[in-house]
Amino acid sequence: MQLGVLASGRGSNLAAIIGSIKRGRISSKLAVVISNVADAGVLGIARRHDIPAVHLSPKEFDSSTLFDQALLDTLNSYEVDLILLAGYLKKISSFIIREYRDRIINIHPALLPAFGGKGMYGQKVHRAVLDYGCKVSGVTVHFVDESYDNGPPILQKCVRVEEGDTLESLAARVLEQEHTIFTEAVKLFEEKRVEVNGRKVIINDA
Ligand code: GRF
Repeated sequence: MQLGVLASGRGSNLAAIIGSIKRGRISSKLAVVISNVADAGVLGIARRHDIPAVHLSPKEFDSSTLFDQALLDTLNSYEVDLILLAGYLKKISSFIIREYRDRIINIHPALLPAFGGKGMYGQKVHRAVLDYGCKVSGVTVHFVDESYDNGPPILQKCVRVEEGDTLESLAARVLEQEHTIFTEAVKLFEEKRVEVNGRKVIINDA
């Protein structure tokens, strides 16, 4: 499979996927990394690994339609089969979702549907989990639909909230799980084990 990563930040999830490919855990190829942020760490990581790195920002287009077309053209030109959103802070339009129906997945650092939705990203998520007094948090890999953090979950993993956890300590333990679960999800797609039935994602046996 040809993977396309869309991301806005530091790129630790991209680095984890690169590591998984290098170790042979997954056989997909990273076809392109696209970021809306010109100096995002994720683009630097891609370049250092000779992965095509593209800066594409809606701000540089006269309309969202033109941006969407450019994004689609880029994905098509790199023959992307599966799109991974790895900390991509822009909304994916219904135009792209239609073109890539059931082929766009996102990773979220909490157990959805809790602590998700518009504006819930990065440290805000872990802050909210701690403030609520939750005993568990976790990671969700889910399909992307027209609403933020709303598509059906594909994989979820729990992370215990420990007594005395800080924002940093919880975020670090959640991130560690993110780095394995995203690879696991890609592997399920490679093995064609992911079946969508309404809101239910069925993981078929290998
Ligand atoms: C991760 O926490 C991911 O769950 C969220 O954005 C963050 C991206 O981190 N969607 P990184 O850029 O991959 O390090």
